[in-house]
Amino acid sequence: MEGHMHMMRTIVFMISCLWVPMEVIGITGNATAPSARPRVVNIGALFTLNSAIGRSAKPAILAAVDDINSDSSILKGTKLNLTLQDTNCSGFLGTVEAMQLMGKDVIAAIGPQSSGIAHVISHVVNELHVPLLSFGATDPTLSALQYPYFLRTTTSDYFQMYAVADLVEYFGWREIVAIFVDDDYGRNGISILGDALAKKRAKISYKAAFTPGATNNDIDSLLVGVNLKESRVFVIHVNPDSGLTIFSIAKRLGMMGNGYVWIATDWLPSVLDSSDTINPDTMDLIQGVIALRHHTSDSKLKKSFTARWRNLKDKETPKFNSYALYSYDSVWLLARALDAFFDDGGTVTFSDDPRLQNSNGTLLGLNALRIFDQGPKLLQKLITTNFTGLTGKIQFDSEKNLILPAYDVLNIGGTSSRLLGYWTNYSGLSTVPPEILYTKPSNTSTSNQHLYDVIWPGETVTKPRGWVFPNNGKPLQIAVPYRVTFAEVVTKDKGPGGAKGYCIDVFEAAIRLLPYAVPHDYILYGDGRRNPSFSNLVYDVAQNKYDAAVGDITITTNRTRIVDFTQPFMESGLVVVAPVREIKSSPWAFLKPFTWQMWGLTGVFFLFVGAVVWILEHRMNHEFRGSPRQQLITIFWLVSLLSNYQTPSICIYNSPLYWEIVPCVPY
Ligand SMILES: *[C@@H]1O[C@H](CO)[C@@H](O)[C@H](O)[C@H]1NC(C)=O
Ligand SMILES: *[C@@H]1O[C@H](CO)[C@@H](O)[C@H](O)[C@H]1NC(C)=O
Ligand SMILES: *[C@@H]1O[C@H](CO)[C@@H](O)[C@H](O)[C@H]1NC(C)=O
Ligand SMILES: *[C@@H]1O[C@H](CO)[C@@H](O)[C@H](O)[C@H]1NC(C)=O
Ligand SMILES: *[C@@H]1O[C@H](CO)[C@@H](O)[C@H](O)[C@H]1NC(C)=O
Ligand SMILES: *[C@@H]1O[C@H](CO)[C@@H](O)[C@H](O)[C@H]1NC(C)=O
Ligand SMILES: *[C@@H]1O[C@H](CO)[C@@H](O)[C@H](O)[C@H]1NC(C)=O
Ligand SMILES: *[C@@H]1O[C@H](CO)[C@@H](O)[C@H](O)[C@H]1NC(C)=O
Repeated sequence: MEGHMHMMRTIVFMISCLWVPMEVIGITGNATAPSARPRVVNIGALFTLNSAIGRSAKPAILAAVDDINSDSSILKGTKLNLTLQDTNCSGFLGTVEAMQLMGKDVIAAIGPQSSGIAHVISHVVNELHVPLLSFGATDPTLSALQYPYFLRTTTSDYFQMYAVADLVEYFGWREIVAIFVDDDYGRNGISILGDALAKKRAKISYKAAFTPGATNNDIDSLLVGVNLKESRVFVIHVNPDSGLTIFSIAKRLGMMGNGYVWIATDWLPSVLDSSDTINPDTMDLIQGVIALRHHTSDSKLKKSFTARWRNLKDKETPKFNSYALYSYDSVWLLARALDAFFDDGGTVTFSDDPRLQNSNGTLLGLNALRIFDQGPKLLQKLITTNFTGLTGKIQFDSEKNLILPAYDVLNIGGTSSRLLGYWTNYSGLSTVPPEILYTKPSNTSTSNQHLYDVIWPGETVTKPRGWVFPNNGKPLQIAVPYRVTFAEVVTKDKGPGGAKGYCIDVFEAAIRLLPYAVPHDYILYGDGRRNPSFSNLVYDVAQNKYDAAVGDITITTNRTRIVDFTQPFMESGLVVVAPVREIKSSPWAFLKPFTWQMWGLTGVFFLFVGAVVWILEHRMNHEFRGSPRQQLITIFWLVSLLSNYQTPSICIYNSPLYWEIVPCVPY
């Protein structure tokens, strides 16, 4: 099939080459004098006008084009002709709009904003050699080598996810739940978060994905499911335009209270920064949330831009978010690269794509798409251009990422947000602004991570533990051996607890030391007629039949391979001196640990060691002289000192989520 198609394509291509002339014209003016700077070049902008990002970006892009066109020094007479194309928040319409824009002979496009459209349209611009300067598509996988003409003029979510992982490590959590919109932006971001957490030995215990058009009912049932999980640390990575709905549902489900942790990616500050008056009800929903925001340095340029914002024409929002700054800088980046491109003899010419001409695409208008001949050269200029813009230093590293990625860490509280510190790829979490950090040597060591104190959901300053007991508070099932002999150690209790003994007392005391409640039930192991098999008990714990076991279980090599033991807390001496008063236990029980052959061997060794000591000592040591009775007492005393070496013990297992107590005596 594939081979057949390929052959057909080759034939059609050959035929078309015979009759389709290669058309080469200048975009403006004279095709015969291409080396002169053109009077006008067409550029495009591609984003959803009616979105939190688009409402900020549109006035900024228009302002940048005005600034450049009124400054004759930058493009030396050439004017930018901007075409705005609305991608309208839809994958299909957006792609069609993007294709239409490409049909207008643009030499570069600012956008797209959506990662999904960026994936599709990147294939188109690869063919047409038109660079995309995206200020909004943060999906990390767009950096792939597959998309050479995609240039991201904002920070990739790759870095944001490492920032989230650093936060999780800083607060000492081990498991998180990721709540994300299941599109390219959400899914690929969360996949990087998984990698980043793995490096910190933490993990995403549950991925809660919802479709881009999810209804409130869908989100409701998703959050109910999330609430049943152990983890109470939620990372929420969604679109600015729908994210607040999730918080309002979470609030209704009681998930914005004490004990919960919410970490929002930069979508939340984007919403808050671009709304003029934030409804107090909205702020009430997100109290205690931690959020990341793109860090842009507080330069003079930025201050004067902020002052100008009020007078910008065509603005629909009195405030702007960081995407306004990135889109403004994108246009300037393009202008500077274009200037270098013309200086270097670049020309603006287009040629028809022979591959489109023969596909009979006239109905779709595809033959309007033409190849920008010197696109590779312009792309090269874009990647190597560097300057200081509103967002700070604009320069790309070898992987086409903006250098020096940085985020602000915010804590939402009251009617605004408080700055907790900054995250930089350079030094991790710090309360020192990145601009100062860059002047010092990089230090990402764990001891160098600092943030100001957080006010968590529920208005508490106590750091949430980050997890609750599994199964929503179902008690731990703890196996206890139903001992027949040595019942003092552990056995059945007729009282409500169900078990009693020294091991139970130690366990209860340990549980009481914990700063939180640990509900647990004792399950008797054994039939009460014989002591149970401790090896089977340990095996059943390992098989998750029980969450833990408490008792006098000997630590053996074989058992440590399948369960974890606590430190031994009981000396075997205790077992030996236990009063043997019960009818069931025999007065000869102390002989049980060894077979009669072993006892015999022990006796023989006892006499042998005694004889050796006597032979060595009786010549010079006067303790070994005198009557044979006196000598015998000395020998027995010495040898019994030497043979006291047994140490049985008990064992508690502490995992981040539960306790497990397993005992140990030679049984
Ligand atoms: C464009 O080329 C035509 C001839 O093809 C010439 O007459 C005209 O002067 C040229 N115009 C410019 C602006 O170079
Ligand atoms: C600017 O672009 C639009 C749309 O592509 C086009 O219709 C218009 O003629 C262009 N203006 C100039 C001066 O080239
Ligand atoms: C964009 O979507 C809105 C509503 O979803 C619709 O009214 C409008 O006509 C659309 N615009 C375009 C250009 O498709
Ligand atoms: C394109 O398709 C139309 C209708 O399908 C057909 O009439 C026309 O001949 C085709 N043109 C070429 C160049 O194949
Ligand atoms: C920045 O660009 C200038 C030319 O515009 C170049 O000379 C300089 O080396 C560049 N700096 C870096 C660090 O690439
Ligand atoms: C981020 O940090 C890593 C490790 O320190 C370094 O290898 C990488 O180049 C940095 N990236 C940027 C964009 O600074
Ligand atoms: C990093 O910072 C920590 C704590 O401030 C300090 O102990 C350590 O020496 C620093 N490491 C380097 C390489 O500067
Ligand atoms: C150790 O455990 C393995 C399997 O768990 C079992 O086959 C083996 O017999 C055990 N050895 C002893 C000495 O209990």
